[in-house]
Amino acid sequence: MSLLITGGTIVTATDLYTGDVFVERETITAIGTSLSMPADRVIDATGKYLFPGGIDVHTHLDMPFGGTTSSDDFESGTIAAAFGGTTTIVDFAIQYKGQTLHHAWDAWMKKADGKAAIDYGFHMIVTDLSDQVEQEMDALVREGVTSFKLFMAYPGVFMLDDASIFRALLRTGRNGGTICMHAENGGVIDVLVKRALAEGKTAPTYHALTRPARAEAEATHRAIALAEMADVPIYIVHLSAAEALEMVTEARDRGLPAYAETCPQYLFLSSDNYEEPGFEGAKYVMSPPLRPKETQDRLWRGLAFGDLQAISTDHCPFCMKEQKTLGEGDFSKIPNGAPGIETRMSLVYDGGVRGGRISLNRFVELTATSPARIFGLFPRKGTIAPGSDADIVVFDPHRKIRLSAKTLHMKVDYSPYEGREVTGAAETVISRGRVIVEGGRFTGKAGGGSFLRRRAR
Ligand code: URP
Ligand code: ZN
Ligand code: ZN
Repeated sequence: MSLLITGGTIVTATDLYTGDVFVERETITAIGTSLSMPADRVIDATGKYLFPGGIDVHTHLDMPFGGTTSSDDFESGTIAAAFGGTTTIVDFAIQYKGQTLHHAWDAWMKKADGKAAIDYGFHMIVTDLSDQVEQEMDALVREGVTSFKLFMAYPGVFMLDDASIFRALLRTGRNGGTICMHAENGGVIDVLVKRALAEGKTAPTYHALTRPARAEAEATHRAIALAEMADVPIYIVHLSAAEALEMVTEARDRGLPAYAETCPQYLFLSSDNYEEPGFEGAKYVMSPPLRPKETQDRLWRGLAFGDLQAISTDHCPFCMKEQKTLGEGDFSKIPNGAPGIETRMSLVYDGGVRGGRISLNRFVELTATSPARIFGLFPRKGTIAPGSDADIVVFDPHRKIRLSAKTLHMKVDYSPYEGREVTGAAETVISRGRVIVEGGRFTGKAGGGSFLRRRAR
């Protein structure tokens, strides 16, 4: 099967030019002008951008959490991702206490097998770090699971103490893995949550009020300090607070390999959303929480100037009906997380590129190239170049869409962006040479995605 995409404006992290892209089977084999090789299929992309398929390195599909399970599984979640122009995800497998890492990996491979419609890899969430588990970390890195998420929050569930975090960091210094950190001070938050509940403060807004920006900044600072002492890079996930960004900026100014991602929800929503009437604020209960509106500009500047390296989604959807309602009367029982796997590219293009905050090249860098580099997928993924996988998004920069749970494909009964109009949307989506979205229809297949063994640092 061969494919010729003609006349599009090819955008990579560094280039912007009009050209044709020739794909044979799963791979881009030629780029040029007026390419004349015969192809099984020709797609005219005149007037459209060709972006490398989006890479979302932070998703939670089919994940048990907060007494329930995220509502998208690997089939619905990856199909929704494809509609939005994302062709690769890195999801999180969870090691429960007493389990081996391989047990967790097997469990998540089973969840994805036969279901994932786009390519996928896994980070491993480590909750129980014994000597044996440390050795297993080495094995996992060799086997292509090259990053580990650790939590400084959720005491008694996911949280690790500083000594364990430090040991894991040291281990990645030797095995070439990368530690991804959920940086919030879980001990402080626990005290604040208990105090709020004892005072009868039970509404969703108290989720945000008990997770102060300083708790994120302190943990971010501590995580970076631990990584500095271990002499290894660190990647801070879902950074939301300006105070936490300052910690990353300060570290990077000192030349430390501190990396961080933020997410669209922190760029487009704010703590004002918690004030929506009734229990509506539960839609936005996620950790870290949404921050004051002024933070958005600070995060955009961090993205534009290179202090933040990636935009991922932290897609972790729970329906309002029957899932978020678990926390009616007690905000601490609202499952943490929100949907976003499908809306990332359009939101960031509209608010970032059209909004004049980032260039087209930076858009590609933040949504594909830089995540691919940091997580061992580049140059197979994250760019449009001969030899790379033919993961390509034909993106219509003029198409207007109104975001709504009714028309989006994620399996969740609300959208945090309900009614918002964005300009710019994926039109045709190609995953390893196969057209998986076109004409508003999914044309790929569940199970069409492959597990990606990623490279160590
Ligand atoms: O609220 C969130 N972020 N839910 C997903 C789990 C996590 O901490 O990333
Ligand atoms: Zn997290
Ligand atoms: Zn997450």
